[in-house]
Amino acid sequence: MNEIAIHVQDIYKNFHKQSSFPWPRRNGGEVSRQVVAVDNVSFDVHKGEIFGVLGPNGSGKSTLVRLIATLLLPDGGSITVFDHDVVRDPMAVQRLINRVSVEASFFKKLSPMENLSYGARLYGLNNRQARIQIREILNRLGLEASSVGKPVEEMSRGMQQKVAIARALLTHPAVLLLDEPTTGLDPRSKREVQSLVCELRDQEGTTILLTTHDMVEADTLCDRIAIMDSGRVVALETPEKLRSLVPSQNGHAPTLEDVFLELTGKKLVSEEANS
Ligand SMILES: Nc1ncnc2c1ncn2[C@@H]1O[C@H](COP(=O)(O)OP(=O)(O)O)[C@@H](O)[C@H]1O
Ligand SMILES: [Mg+2]
Repeated sequence: MNEIAIHVQDIYKNFHKQSSFPWPRRNGGEVSRQVVAVDNVSFDVHKGEIFGVLGPNGSGKSTLVRLIATLLLPDGGSITVFDHDVVRDPMAVQRLINRVSVEASFFKKLSPMENLSYGARLYGLNNRQARIQIREILNRLGLEASSVGKPVEEMSRGMQQKVAIARALLTHPAVLLLDEPTTGLDPRSKREVQSLVCELRDQEGTTILLTTHDMVEADTLCDRIAIMDSGRVVALETPEKLRSLVPSQNGHAPTLEDVFLELTGKKLVSEEANS
């Protein structure tokens, strides 16, 4: 049997959103609307697999990632990471995971090396050892020596995303949570990040949960894919099985896009970050 790395059981999370009505309400009260971001989601991620969460904007992907990362508390259900409960034992979970979000935060005036050294110090890594490790990681990510010393703010978003992943790798996390790691990247940087993700699974046995709205990415990278729509998981299969859910039309094999359309009646609009 495959060891279970992440166990998500009946997870529910809602937010209270202030209404953006520009006019005052007659009763004068604040208008707040409930948004169910994650609606009774259950799944297991096996150790060493790349598990994709595919869905359009607003489908609940980031909320799910933040719940697993102990950054949010669920309103219902439970999550364990290698048997550690995210609510009861968040510290144990934090030691096992690392997360890279779409908008990674840096000290923008500092270089990747300085940012990573700072990260290494936070994690209590030995400075000399950390610098060697940082160079090795940055090199592996295709960051030339010349850019390692430049302020992060002068780098492209693709580069910045790679630095963010490099920082996450410093702790050798057993579980890496990547929230839209390739959104807004140019095709080449995208491929570099994707091959790094595969390498991590293949060479270090890292368990990776990644979110994406890029179907080609989900298809090529993921061992299994959970398709999310409006906070719900509408399918969870291998890419091959997902495609087999939809009959081939006009002689050509269905794409994941066809599967999404078939399952939800909606198009999965790809919206790249503007940069
Ligand atoms: N902190 C928050 N406060 C209020 N609403 C939120 C918050 N975070 C997410 N939401 C809402 O929850 C839903 C799911 O959002 P999110 O998890 O960010 O989706 P995705 O990552 O798939 O784009 C959206 O309707 C979003 O507006
Ligand atoms: Mg998101």
